[in-house]
Amino acid sequence: MEKEDLEQTLVLIKPDALKNSLTGYILSQLSEFHTGLRFAGAKIVHVSRMLAEEHYAEHRGKIFFPGLIDFIMGILQYPDQPHRRRVIALVYQGPDAVQKIRDIVGPTNPHEAREKKPGSIRSLGTLVPIRDAQGNEVGQRMENLIHASANLSDAEREIKLWFQPTDIPPFMHAYPTVVSQDHYYYRDGKLFTTYEPGSICLIAPGNVVWQSDKESLHLLVQGKPAPVPLSSIAAKYLINVTKEVE
Ligand code: RTP
Ligand code: MG
Repeated sequence: MEKEDLEQTLVLIKPDALKNSLTGYILSQLSEFHTGLRFAGAKIVHVSRMLAEEHYAEHRGKIFFPGLIDFIMGILQYPDQPHRRRVIALVYQGPDAVQKIRDIVGPTNPHEAREKKPGSIRSLGTLVPIRDAQGNEVGQRMENLIHASANLSDAEREIKLWFQPTDIPPFMHAYPTVVSQDHYYYRDGKLFTTYEPGSICLIAPGNVVWQSDKESLHLLVQGKPAPVPLSSIAAKYLINVTKEVE
């Protein structure tokens, strides 16, 4: 297979799209026929705070960050129904996958999408005012239905954040994998190589893992800084493992 045929991108169908039952519409816009791309991965995810914050790490500290996290976690859409908080995570693969999907998705701001790209998915989104404690408007939250990776390096980081290699058919692996020879356990922000009471096993010997995760874990257990943060690796292995209700 040619290298460009392996280009992949991450799509998240966000909780506002699920709430408004736009999933069928969005999936038909993103069908293999319309995009010329292939499905490489799909999962329903109850988004933890750790996963949300890793996904949107570049926006930490911005005025809209707390609302963005509550939004992607589904807390804003379903404050009293945690069991309904989900996103649909998808990987698409094929030539020019990142740009093709971004074109169908449209501009970040739904108002701009309606003006500049009517018919794009985000033209169906909305803007909600962000208010301070006094009720003054301090910004706007974009409820824009869908996420799509912005470029190739974001796509790699995001796909590895949301998907384990075993979530993707092996012939469609776009990034190197290795077989782990070690155990890795996680509890309360800490990494262990042997079981600790209350810890969760992230990786066992014989598991196929992203090589970049394995290399980072190897550094992290030695207390060294690593390119992939522990929270990013743990968040993926904790997907759909623990209930998070808040
Ligand atoms: P996304 O990551 O969700 O696909 O969106 P994007 O690349 O088009 O835009 P990005 O700059 O990465 O922003 C991520 C999400 O943050 C919210 N946002 N709000 N109020 C604001 O100024 C603002 N800027 C960004 C949006 O919900 C956007 O989807
Ligand atoms: Mg983005």
